[in-house]
Amino acid sequence: MSLLIDNCGELVTCDPRRGDGPLGLRTDAAVVVADTEIVWVGHSGDAPAADRYLDAGGGAVLPGFVDSHAHLVFAGDRAAEFAARMAGQRYTGGGIRTTVEATRAADDDALRAHTARLVGEALRQGTTTIEIKSGYGLTVADERRSLRVAAGFTDEVTFLGAHVVPAGADADAYTALVCGEMMDAARAYAAWVDVFCDRGAFDADQSRAVLTAGRAAGLGLRVHANQLGPGPGVQLAVDLGAASADHCTHLSDADVDALAGSATVATLLPGAEFSTRSPYPDGRRLWDAGVTVALATDCNPGSSFTSSMPFCVALAVREMGLTPAEAVWSATAGGARALRRDDVGVIRPGARADLVVLDAPSHLHLAYRPGVPLIRDVIRAGEPT
Ligand code: NIG
Ligand code: FE
Repeated sequence: MSLLIDNCGELVTCDPRRGDGPLGLRTDAAVVVADTEIVWVGHSGDAPAADRYLDAGGGAVLPGFVDSHAHLVFAGDRAAEFAARMAGQRYTGGGIRTTVEATRAADDDALRAHTARLVGEALRQGTTTIEIKSGYGLTVADERRSLRVAAGFTDEVTFLGAHVVPAGADADAYTALVCGEMMDAARAYAAWVDVFCDRGAFDADQSRAVLTAGRAAGLGLRVHANQLGPGPGVQLAVDLGAASADHCTHLSDADVDALAGSATVATLLPGAEFSTRSPYPDGRRLWDAGVTVALATDCNPGSSFTSSMPFCVALAVREMGLTPAEAVWSATAGGARALRRDDVGVIRPGARADLVVLDAPSHLHLAYRPGVPLIRDVIRAGEPT
């Protein structure tokens, strides 16, 4: 089955070789999809015939968003903790243990249904690729269950047994469990391993042990780095060749230099700064230093309970100094880089047919009209959703 998408107000290819600027913008363009793939991109008048037709109505057409950082397998919420923060309380990550208790207590069906609800919410807002982490189980059985649930929704499953040390456990003994028995259980479902390398979570040695064990188990590496304060996370991520260092809220000059000279993506999570009242990292400085930047939601019940990539784009423009074009690139092609994928986050022949049609003529509107439901159509792997 083929599909022609025409009458695009603007085509955002996210491939600078295919158009203007970092977004590779084109006008008077059309796209043809066959089965799950994009097969043709070109001038509207030259488009080949297709079985079906989608009129973009003059709306901008973008690659589906790639949300490369989300914690969707959990139960309960922490709205009261959010309210307390807005009244002045600091975020410390201590509330993670509250969600661990609620998650352990939920049955499989409830956990799956809750995850499905959030994945659906993200899809309706244009997210066609999503990474999902475990990290609210923190026993071998509970982490295995979270990873199994995540694997029902995405191939980009991340083992985050090293989220925090569970209540009452010894940090080194727990790290050894994560590196041993838990890693063995995780490798059946996970593609990635992640560690929260920060104050109150895991130190540099413990984080290095987790990442090294993950690599030995065949997993790619990701790091929660420098969220709560300056620390070793970013440079550890770069040292070990991690795909991504996430948060990057508190960066030294040496951290920026390390990222700039590396293949490690800096994944910025503006929903977390929004929801914790932390200062935002300087995305402008990272971009200008030549760092590859991704934007993601960090969707989780504690520090960032949003599944909306358009909201993150708007925040990154308003608060992190990225231009709308840079923010949209970071939310699509940047996210794909953070997952080491070249088949998503881009509109080119051979890429997966993941496309979003906006109810607006240009990508600028994603930042210009924050909070407005601008996602008109979402096509995932060639299928209108
Ligand atoms: O990425 N920083 C660690 N983990 C999450 C927060 C988890 C929570 O508060 O429940 C994050 O912000
Ligand atoms: Fe996170």
